[in-house]
Amino acid sequence: NMSTQELEDRVRAIKTKLGKKLYIPGHHYQKDEVIQFADDTGDSLKLAQLSAENREAEFIVFCGVHFMAETADILTTKEQKVYLPDMRAGCSMADMADIYQTERAWTKLEEMFGSSIIPLTYVNSTAAIKAFVGKNGGATVTSSNAEQMVSWAFTQKERILFLPDQHLGRNTAFNLEVSLDEMAVWNPINDTLEYDGAIENVKVILWKGHCSVHENFTVANIKDVREQYPDMKIIVHPECRREVVELSDMNGSTNYIINAIEKSEPGSSWAIGTEMNLVKRIIQQHPDKHIVSLNPHMCPCLTMNRIDLPHLLWCLESIESGQPHNIIEVDEKVAVNAKKALVAMLNQS
Ligand code: 13P
Ligand code: SF4
Repeated sequence: NMSTQELEDRVRAIKTKLGKKLYIPGHHYQKDEVIQFADDTGDSLKLAQLSAENREAEFIVFCGVHFMAETADILTTKEQKVYLPDMRAGCSMADMADIYQTERAWTKLEEMFGSSIIPLTYVNSTAAIKAFVGKNGGATVTSSNAEQMVSWAFTQKERILFLPDQHLGRNTAFNLEVSLDEMAVWNPINDTLEYDGAIENVKVILWKGHCSVHENFTVANIKDVREQYPDMKIIVHPECRREVVELSDMNGSTNYIINAIEKSEPGSSWAIGTEMNLVKRIIQQHPDKHIVSLNPHMCPCLTMNRIDLPHLLWCLESIESGQPHNIIEVDEKVAVNAKKALVAMLNQS
């Protein structure tokens, strides 16, 4: 059993030895013990852009979740290999849309709406879903460019199928003046469209998925904060439910949240509704501001947390030894179409 100090020293030694051949991107939701070794940190969009630009690293050790590592693999060359330090670092939201459900949904939706519909998928989805979207003329979106991408999709078709996060889809469409009456929900469990009105009025079909971390922020949390700290600004991620976003003061992607707090006056006070590792880090970085989590019980992303210092070292040592573990390799046929969807987004970001 190695001490933390020993684990850290070994990671440092391997980083020095491999130099520019090794690249470690880290998502903002990663633990401090991991993020300290990241060459770059970012939200999903920034990390995808950086992967698309990096042509010197041979080994990309992705500190984030599985779909992010897949995206990095799709956007890099065949010679560059992507690794995920723990294969169990998935995403419960991405798991809520599988390709068979999606193909069944598409067949039914085409029966209902003909060819008036275009698919968009949040990057928090499997490579197979991205490939489906690319094949059908759609694009990926992230929380930083969702409005732009939904606007673009409406220049292509009358209707949008938005996978797999109903909340990001609803919040984004709402900001673009699509009314809640014009949004239907696709339920993949029983293959049905949940909608009360006449279906010709539907503009956005939201896949019934969500993020199990951001669903933990509630209207009750907002009421508590308003009561306890009347001057506090509430800022949340758009993966939160509509009613939570509605009652908060600001909402936006991980990067948007970080920037908003950075730009705020010393002494200002904030309640943040996003993942716990990031909230804790923001609190540490701004001792001059009063910052709390919108949900006092804090909300960690358990799968992001699976990447820890021992797994990072284990993965790096396997690369150093020439017998690497945990390579993420997207099937070539899937990657070609998934790349179309990603490039359609990157070209507009
Ligand atoms: P962003 O990095 O785009 O803000 O997304 C948050 C998230 O849930 C990543 O899994
Ligand atoms: Fe998935 Fe939510 Fe975790 Fe992001 S925070 S990886 S969307 S479960």
